[in-house]
Amino acid sequence: MAELGVNIDHVATIRQARMGIEPEPLQAALIAEQNGADQITIHLREDRRHIQDRDLKLMRRVIQTKLNLEMAANSEMVIIAKSILPDIVTLVPEKREELTTEGGLNMEMKNLKEKIDELKSAGIIVSVFIEPEPEMIKLADKFGCNAVEIHTGCYANLKNTKEINEEISKIEKAAKLIKSAGMKVVAGHGLNYHNVLPLVKIGLIEEFNIGHSIISRSIFTGLAEAVSSMKQLLG
Ligand code: PXP
Repeated sequence: MAELGVNIDHVATIRQARMGIEPEPLQAALIAEQNGADQITIHLREDRRHIQDRDLKLMRRVIQTKLNLEMAANSEMVIIAKSILPDIVTLVPEKREELTTEGGLNMEMKNLKEKIDELKSAGIIVSVFIEPEPEMIKLADKFGCNAVEIHTGCYANLKNTKEINEEISKIEKAAKLIKSAGMKVVAGHGLNYHNVLPLVKIGLIEEFNIGHSIISRSIFTGLAEAVSSMKQLLG
């Protein structure tokens, strides 16, 4: 069974809409863990639009599974990661004006290898969020990444069956390449209770990071049910 990372940024987004104290993301993390999540994923953005530094500190102390910190590959974030020590850091591209992470990380960005080395030497597992492109995967391997998270946003946005099938085979080829290089195969972004199934069927993806669809469903079913239903699909 593939592992499920539940992204709870969206809970923090609702809290920040009123700059108040509810809903509490930590409570969401605990409910997710109690209902089958294998890890909690949070993105500390440069503009702190949802997850705050206090959330990261609290999660580190309280959650019992794994903490996956998504962050930009910059010096400020590397310092924070080295002081909090999440289990995993997933390096993502970040633009202030975007609604959510758009596109994968450019593995050719300046000083990326140094940032990866610094995180790894602090004992943190390093994953990179990239497009299913062989050149990017080869660089992830060359830079010593432990895992690659395939950006599934393009797949999730497609409507045409032929294009969807082409994207699935691209993701499958990428997964094979990642696995053959000895890195963990992860996927995420835009996945929901329907479009995750063809990716599960590939049989090579070891972990999925899913947020928006789980939190959206939880409004109607409660978070426990939303997490456990997704977890069942990954089996
Ligand atoms: N993985 C990464 C690297 C992401 O940036 C995000 C969005 O924050 C997700 C997974 C989850 O995406 P979604 O909320 O669309 O499920």
